[in-house]
Amino acid sequence: MTVTRRTSDFFDSYAHDFDAIYGNKNTPFNRVVNHLFRKSMRLRYAKTIEGCYPVEGKRVIDIGCGPGHFGIALARKGASYVRGLDFAEGMINIARSNAKAAGVDKVCDFMLGDFMKDPIPGRFDYAIVMGVMDYISEPEKAVEKVLSITGSKAFFSFPVDGGMLAWQRKLRYKKRCELYMYTRERLHALFSSAGCGSFEVEKISRDFFVTAVPK
Ligand SMILES: C[S@@+](CC[C@H](N)C(=O)[O-])C[C@H]1O[C@@H](n2cnc3c(N)ncnc32)[C@H](O)[C@@H]1O
Repeated sequence: MTVTRRTSDFFDSYAHDFDAIYGNKNTPFNRVVNHLFRKSMRLRYAKTIEGCYPVEGKRVIDIGCGPGHFGIALARKGASYVRGLDFAEGMINIARSNAKAAGVDKVCDFMLGDFMKDPIPGRFDYAIVMGVMDYISEPEKAVEKVLSITGSKAFFSFPVDGGMLAWQRKLRYKKRCELYMYTRERLHALFSSAGCGSFEVEKISRDFFVTAVPK
């Protein structure tokens, strides 16, 4: 089985549980667990939604959109068009039904596809790449591709390498799929050579949150 297939199969089987992390469908116990252990996810969600400002009338692409929560929130705030892309069919099905339930299915287009392989037609004001670079074996190619379709700002998360938490996660993912982790120095080199206009790297809990402005 290819590395890509292993990752998409894992996320296909994980889709319902991953969607539940975002809240409504959660048990009180899981809500407490998530609050304690999913700080990075909460922070990167809040920072991305805040970073996509102003969003009225803007076009957004959410790469590795999973159950679609970022794009749906931005559509509700007035984005004119949201494209979500994910290579796990289970995730796309959930994203479509979440968009319908939120009443924004006319604005949101959730599509099945591999960002690294498929052509991405169109340009977008904001690009969101949250919780995805963890699984991408060619980060230079991914960052350049994201910047080439972004007009205003792109937001990325990268898992922090080093320490107990990173070690534990690597161990857990051994049987699931490949995992790629980063240092601040590696990210500075990556974004400097990608030729952005500017970029900022912030550490938020277990992730680096990167805001990049294309040239
Ligand atoms: C941890 S989930 C994050 C989902 C969403 N961005 C969020 O933060 O709620 C990572 C998602 O990226 C998707 N993904 C990983 N590599 C991808 C690729 N090359 N093309 C499309 N989707 C990809 C996976 O299928 C999975 O749904």
